[in-house]
Amino acid sequence: MKLRIVDHPLVTHKMTTLRDRDTDSPTFRRLTEELVTLLAYEATREVRVEPHRVQTPVASCDGVKLSHPRPLVVPILRAGLGMLEGMSRLMPTAEVGFVGMVRNDQTLQPTTYAERLPEDLSGRQCYVLDPMLATGGTLAATVRFLVDRGADHITCICLLAAPEGLQRLERLLEDLHVPCTVVVAGVDERLDEHGYIVPGLGDAGDRLYGVL
Ligand code: URA
Repeated sequence: MKLRIVDHPLVTHKMTTLRDRDTDSPTFRRLTEELVTLLAYEATREVRVEPHRVQTPVASCDGVKLSHPRPLVVPILRAGLGMLEGMSRLMPTAEVGFVGMVRNDQTLQPTTYAERLPEDLSGRQCYVLDPMLATGGTLAATVRFLVDRGADHITCICLLAAPEGLQRLERLLEDLHVPCTVVVAGVDERLDEHGYIVPGLGDAGDRLYGVL
């Protein structure tokens, strides 16, 4: 697993406002979208393209276009949905699929409660959106799910990660023979006893959707 921390003053500036507990929901949503667009620029460095020739008003020239099959963007419900607009702005022709994961109270394992994805993901590059990489359980389960369906290149885009979650994700994905990159705006200190990232930004879903 590769980790890419996007180190850019604009990213840090927006992240600082996002962390602030006095930032209201509409501002939080807008900043999340802007941050995701900046992270997506880094995250799509390896997106597959194919040669494409165009005619300019002056002459013809060589360029590229996104390859087929199209990349698949997968927001993890609920909070990942707040990242979709920012990602789609950069890659509007990507296909979008959805995954909903919840932790089973008995087994503590994440289970899928909703899923809208193509049956066959052979040869697909997938971009998974989940704002907070906390314990890593949900993200690992989603990545496995996509690889089981045939995805052969996975990039996870998160706003913040905890070291515990990154280590756990790495362990959980050890036997996966598919390149996996995690792109984040920052790695914080730790998780607290409730599984929140410290200092973090609180519950991303609640702050996005105004449940406070
Ligand atoms: N999910 C969140 O929304 N915030 C955290 O800090 C951890 C998990």
